[in-house]
Amino acid sequence: MTHKVGILTGGGDCPGLNAVIRAVVRKIENAGGSCLGLLEGWRGLVNARTCPLSALQTDDIIARGGTILGSSRTNPYKQPANVARCLENVRKLGLTALVAIGGDDTLSVASRLYNDEKVPTVGVPKTIDNDLSATDFTFGFDTAINIVMEAVDRLRTTAESHRRIMVVETMGRHAGWIACLSGIAVAADYILVPEVPVDLDHMCAVLKRRREEGKLYGLVVVSEGAHLPEGGLVAAEDFDEFGHAKLGGIGEVVAGLIEKRLGVETRSVTLGHLQRGGAPSAYDRVLATRFGIKAGELVLSGEFGRMASLRGTEIMAVPLSEAVSANRRLDLRYYEEAKEFFPG
Ligand code: F6P
Repeated sequence: MTHKVGILTGGGDCPGLNAVIRAVVRKIENAGGSCLGLLEGWRGLVNARTCPLSALQTDDIIARGGTILGSSRTNPYKQPANVARCLENVRKLGLTALVAIGGDDTLSVASRLYNDEKVPTVGVPKTIDNDLSATDFTFGFDTAINIVMEAVDRLRTTAESHRRIMVVETMGRHAGWIACLSGIAVAADYILVPEVPVDLDHMCAVLKRRREEGKLYGLVVVSEGAHLPEGGLVAAEDFDEFGHAKLGGIGEVVAGLIEKRLGVETRSVTLGHLQRGGAPSAYDRVLATRFGIKAGELVLSGEFGRMASLRGTEIMAVPLSEAVSANRRLDLRYYEEAKEFFPG
């Protein structure tokens, strides 16, 4: 069978998306097929907005951040008519398969289209949050924690000069992967993650003790999804098409609480979308390329309803339904290791 494969990138962008696109295109072209880009996530399929993709054209996009296809958080299942339009456009565009590169939202649509409508879909796991089940790591995560590390290394020098405490808020939604692993990498004095109840008394006692011991500045890394004991989750009131509230703002609240309790000048920095920008790390380029090649292989062997996944150092295929069944929260063994540096 000669394939014509539609490729889309959905959800929050992340470094490495272009490396996947490049690898899928190459794998399919090597087998005599062709690829078509669907623009801005599922919206591209709903509206049949496409762009040509060739191996020649995509050969040097590996170093580019973001996605050449554009992205959106469009959910066709919000309106049944849009699901029908997706099906019609698969037929009209002559697509023999779809490769959806996304996180749990984008891939949940791919999974439903496969299960309910028999659309031949394959998934590739992306997200800086690293919160997808059925894969050890997603691409984008490594670049994100390196960005946090570089930023905090800079914050350290100014915190030290002014004897301040610096609170750094990271992304990650309801999973503490980014906060915890970047916190370990920057030797944070305290790390707050959604998976562990926030103990303000303990945090302030640790920060006070450090100061008394002679470390005159402090670094706290807090995940945007951490819950404050009284305030709960700090979030905006609007929701996206997949029902997610916009998180953010907890860093400032935590900084205020520390300053009030300890009487030490405290500042907060929210890294926000910086964590998703710029060129991918070498690790993410390689992982994304391996995922893309696997996705191409799955298409060529007709193994649909599956997702490329990393298990240890092996790239495998897992059912899409397994990948989107639940969010993968932080493995608390990492937090236990981090806690060696802020014991009770
Ligand atoms: O899922 C990736 C992510 O960057 C989250 O960490 C964050 O909460 C969210 O997306 C931000 O979304 P948006 O780009 O829509 O503001």
